[in-house]
Amino acid sequence: MSEISPGHLLTINGPIVTVHLPGVHNGEQVRVGHLNLMGEVIRLDQAQATVQVYESTESLRPGEPVQALGHSLSVELGPGLMGQIFDGVQRPLTKIFAASGDYIARGLNIPSLDRQQVWNFTSNNRLPLGTPVTPGMLLGKVQETLAISHPILVPPDCQGELVELAHAGEYTVEHLIAKVKTDQEEIRSIQMLQRWPVRIPRPYLKRDHAVIPLLTGQRILDTFFPLLKGGKAAVPGPFGAGKTMLQHQIARWSNADIVIYVGCGERGNELVDILETFPHLTDPHTGRSLMERTLLIANTSNMPVVAREASIYVGVTIAEYYRDLGYDVVMVADSTSRWAEALREVGGRLGQMPVEEGYPAYLSSRLAAFYERAGRVTTLNGTTASVTLIGAVSPPGGDFSEPVTSHTKEIVQTFWALSKELADARHYPSIDWNESFSGYVTLAQPWWAQHIDSHWLEYRNESLKLLAQADELARIVNLVGPEALSPTQRWVLTGAALIREGLLQQNAGDEVDSFCSPQKQMLLLSLMLQIYHQGVKLLDLGIPVQQLSDLPILAQARRLKSKYSSAEVEQLGHFEPEIRAAFDKILLEYGYEGGQETAKGV
Ligand SMILES: Nc1ncnc2c1ncn2[C@@H]1O[C@H](COP(=O)(O)OP(=O)(O)OP(=O)(O)O)[C@@H](O)[C@H]1O
Ligand SMILES: [Mg+2]
Repeated sequence: MSEISPGHLLTINGPIVTVHLPGVHNGEQVRVGHLNLMGEVIRLDQAQATVQVYESTESLRPGEPVQALGHSLSVELGPGLMGQIFDGVQRPLTKIFAASGDYIARGLNIPSLDRQQVWNFTSNNRLPLGTPVTPGMLLGKVQETLAISHPILVPPDCQGELVELAHAGEYTVEHLIAKVKTDQEEIRSIQMLQRWPVRIPRPYLKRDHAVIPLLTGQRILDTFFPLLKGGKAAVPGPFGAGKTMLQHQIARWSNADIVIYVGCGERGNELVDILETFPHLTDPHTGRSLMERTLLIANTSNMPVVAREASIYVGVTIAEYYRDLGYDVVMVADSTSRWAEALREVGGRLGQMPVEEGYPAYLSSRLAAFYERAGRVTTLNGTTASVTLIGAVSPPGGDFSEPVTSHTKEIVQTFWALSKELADARHYPSIDWNESFSGYVTLAQPWWAQHIDSHWLEYRNESLKLLAQADELARIVNLVGPEALSPTQRWVLTGAALIREGLLQQNAGDEVDSFCSPQKQMLLLSLMLQIYHQGVKLLDLGIPVQQLSDLPILAQARRLKSKYSSAEVEQLGHFEPEIRAAFDKILLEYGYEGGQETAKGV
């Protein structure tokens, strides 16, 4: 990296400035102007560099000083990240608010990780001095939050012989933890604080196949369009369809160890909502405060556009860091469309040829490179861990053929498409079962079969088929009226309505139904299908469909999801005999003495 070199500002074009800065590298971080604004070199032409500035460039003047910092745009990594709220370039927002009030002053240089906080370090006493050390080796541990233990590992770029290791005790992130004599005979000091350039994926030993579902407690996601730990998913949806709500639900209920929530270019009040609610919520898996496993990155619509570009990388680099510590991390980004807008703005100002709807030609490769950072891996430490990426997409006018949505659709394996029609009908989550897909169904099947129920795939597929049949029939009804349908077809409509209302609809605000365990998902699914199957049998015996559609058991089935919580799943089992009894009663009315047993032989 270069020496710290003095330079000066030449031209200013919104967030893009040119500077005279000999010796600077492409990608290097710089400080611009008397205010020390934060920026990054994005183009080099000999001594002249083009810099994108992450803060407002208002009142900057040509001739003001510019300084290269000697490193790429990097994040600080170490204990103290959990529970934090950072802006798009990893500045701690709570401290910034304390220092400058609600309006973020420019050029503030507050370190991301607290330098004063002490951590109780336990040393790895199985490492005698002289041990050869390799990247990812465990040096010790601190308890970061009550929920999260934080291993201190040898950084990815450090190898050699251990010459010093701190004893157990209290240390800040800057204290010396270990010294390593490298193969070049240099002494390298290791602190808990490490840095990593955000645009470079962190290394791992090897990629593994994703096989374990990322369970979100949302039925339409887990049962119908599953995602795996280490997978990539998108949530495209028109304005107001429920993208943010869905991402909140995932952040709140998913079975990941760590959640990184990146609010990128969305309205500030959506983040305020998280800030106000999350600290009061408990993590369903540990029973502790949700913030102990959550990190927020807030780059709202009133902050400079180009900082959105950085926020996604800052988020994913921190996600990879916790993966390297052995955790399953999920990162949700709301929304990648706002991030793409930053690319468009910068591309435009650089005079790059716009390709599709003003976006630069590299839009698709940037999106792909971002999602490529998802994965389940064997870490340098030898553990299996994962980064799951979930990006919201906000297509203008809800048009899924626009560039960001269409490229994202090509890249991700799980596509949860939200629909305006469903949202308008207050069917939440408004995930359209015709437009959505998951490429992980076959991979998820063994887990469901082994842990929950061997019928999972069969029931899931049958339900989707029923929904598709019903959609087709609904079109016929629209054209020629309901009289045109046969009793069996009318029963298909009833069955599909049961699936829609009893399963797919899930109110995030309903205390009982906000989260649904996989066991409860499976039980509800089998109960709905059981009702449908029993009805089909009775129809075959010639019993009028109206008799079946009037059964009170249908309405009861639709309400089961909010009647019994996931902890009361046993109670759900009692509903099965009730279904039988209801249908038997009709059979008896029609002279089938002994109910279904007798009817079988008919
Ligand atoms: N699962 C849900 N349960 C109950 N209500 C929901 C659910 N999802 C969405 N809603 C309702 O829809 C409203 C809009 O949702 P949300 O803000 O998540 O939409 P959005 O797609 O993020 O909107 P925008 O395009 O403005 O960002 C919510 O305020 C809520 O009333
Ligand atoms: Mg939103």
